[in-house]
Amino acid sequence: MDIKQNISLKPYNTFGIDVLAKHFVSVSSLSELKEILSLKTYPNKLIIGGGSNMLLTKNQDALVIHINLKGISIISEDDHFAIVKASAGENWHEFVLWCLKHSFGGVENLSLIPGNVGTAPIQNIGAYGVELKDTFVSCEGLSLETNKIESFSKSDCNFGYRNSIFKQDKKGKYIITNVTFKLNKKPHKLNINYGSIASQLEQIQITNPTIQDVSRAVIAIRESKLPNPKEIGNSGSFFKNPIVSKAHYNALIENFPEIPSYTISDDEIKVPAGWLIEKAGFKGKRFGDYGVHKNQALVLVNYGDAKGIDILNLSKIIQKTIKRLFDISIEAEVNIL
Ligand code: EPU
Repeated sequence: MDIKQNISLKPYNTFGIDVLAKHFVSVSSLSELKEILSLKTYPNKLIIGGGSNMLLTKNQDALVIHINLKGISIISEDDHFAIVKASAGENWHEFVLWCLKHSFGGVENLSLIPGNVGTAPIQNIGAYGVELKDTFVSCEGLSLETNKIESFSKSDCNFGYRNSIFKQDKKGKYIITNVTFKLNKKPHKLNINYGSIASQLEQIQITNPTIQDVSRAVIAIRESKLPNPKEIGNSGSFFKNPIVSKAHYNALIENFPEIPSYTISDDEIKVPAGWLIEKAGFKGKRFGDYGVHKNQALVLVNYGDAKGIDILNLSKIIQKTIKRLFDISIEAEVNIL
């Protein structure tokens, strides 16, 4: 176990924010993780997976534990399904590629999402009509209180839109160590109804798509809209899409008839925050080393040496402006630390 002092977290967060961890350790086995959690010398602990859903606004006066548990295995399979278990430290996209290589379907729409397998359930990652919960069977988590492994079924996790029990009652209480998925075999059930996937497939003249084709289409769409964190620091969508009442939506379309929307229930309409932020004039705006991405207004970016606090302040200005213009409160999706 190699606990280091005053380590820069820049390589460990996709926003590329340069703050220090007072203590830092990268953990690649469960026994090592248990040993570290039992240390009484470090009362404050911060867990980092892929670092893709956080904005670091200050030096971290804590023991930062980087989860580097690796391994993917097939637990069982029949003619229709495969049950696959992946360790928390596996990179999410590498896991998707592993599934494609084995011809296991269900996660192809989630291609190229930054982050790791272990953090995917926390916010129930989703894109292009599919969410993690659609293939999720269970996960295991190490309790920070008891230092014992507990198992969570899909219903235990209480998944919602960018939400789970790990953002509610169990927030900060467990380290997810592995996730088990149920993936489908040929003939795969594809999910290509999400507008831009169908048109992307049409554009590349694919009429009978495979899971590999769907993945390629998703990658092309993402690359055209979302900045690659290796080139421009970012955390994907900074805000969640807000849900408004039908009455509120009816009032909005009086002034903005072109506003896109998705019906959630009889009285709930989801409105894209990216549209609101663009309409408010922030898309593509740059303030020194930080700003709002030019192709997707939901994404705040670090062009180099931005400070987390500057990005946080920009997000607050955006929130206030959206409230003033549309009377809608937009909530950050990323964790502010
Ligand atoms: N839009 C704009 N301007 C913008 C961005 C979007 O007008 O700058 C409009 C689009 O034209 C479209 C609508 O908003 O009519 C929706 O846009 P898009 O399909 O790009 O999706 P989104 O709602 O902005 C969500 C997820 C993304 C995910 C995409 C695709 C959230 C918070 N974000 O974005 O997830 O990739 O759908 O499924 O739900 C992430 O979580 O990090 C993420 C990137």
